[in-house]
Amino acid sequence: MKFVKKNYGWILVAILAMLPMLIVFKMLNIDFSNGLAITLVEGAGGEGRSTLDMLYHVTGEFAIRWMTAVLTCTPFFILFGVTNLFVRQAMGIATAVWSFLHFIFFIAAEGFGESFTQVNYVFGFIAVLILIPLFFTSNRKSMKWLKLTWKKMQSLSYAAIILSLAHVAILEKTWAIYAIIVGLGFILRIPAIKNRILTFRMQRKTIKT
Ligand code: HEM
Repeated sequence: MKFVKKNYGWILVAILAMLPMLIVFKMLNIDFSNGLAITLVEGAGGEGRSTLDMLYHVTGEFAIRWMTAVLTCTPFFILFGVTNLFVRQAMGIATAVWSFLHFIFFIAAEGFGESFTQVNYVFGFIAVLILIPLFFTSNRKSMKWLKLTWKKMQSLSYAAIILSLAHVAILEKTWAIYAIIVGLGFILRIPAIKNRILTFRMQRKTIKT
């Protein structure tokens, strides 16, 4: 119980990130009778979409949502003074897992070579490449080992979100809401604005105590 109380933040993120996997599994036929064979369930897409389109939709949406959420952690800290490294790392892992799944379905359906046929896929591909080292270093051991390099590596996530937003915008799917949230976050990170908010919060705290 003590463990849950202390770690409920990242446990909640893990549950929220994993639950939609059930939707994905419902669209797949997994057959172990002759080795492992995975096929798509026909007509599981609903809303007039094919199953494959729905898989792209679900995995892509969760990838961009978690990526947006993880980039909102620092602005959230600036505004409210609340932060939790484990929650942030769990969000980062969720982002990478959903992006990798999205890409894996694409490779399985179209082939790896197809990733280089459209500029929007190339943007997505570079974003996925960036997420690989971020995924493997989203833990305390790597943080201690890499020290300052770890912080520098994390800033690669800015490039990942810009590329992902460009990928989705070119596809003419929902992107503006994520761009607004991320854009506001970038504004709050501007040192002059950030320092003003932090000083304002400190002053309020001193008056209260
Ligand atoms: C090599 C990398 C990638 C490839 C090949 C790829 C490919 C695709 C394809 C084929 C679609 C469906 C297009 C359509 O319905 O017309 C799609 C949609 C989408 N992708 Fe990617 N993608 C990649 C990386 C990413 C990444 C890194 C993200 C976000 C973190 C992302 C987010 C999305 C989103 C949000 C959609 C729209 C889903 C919808 O609403 O239908 N993709 N992608």
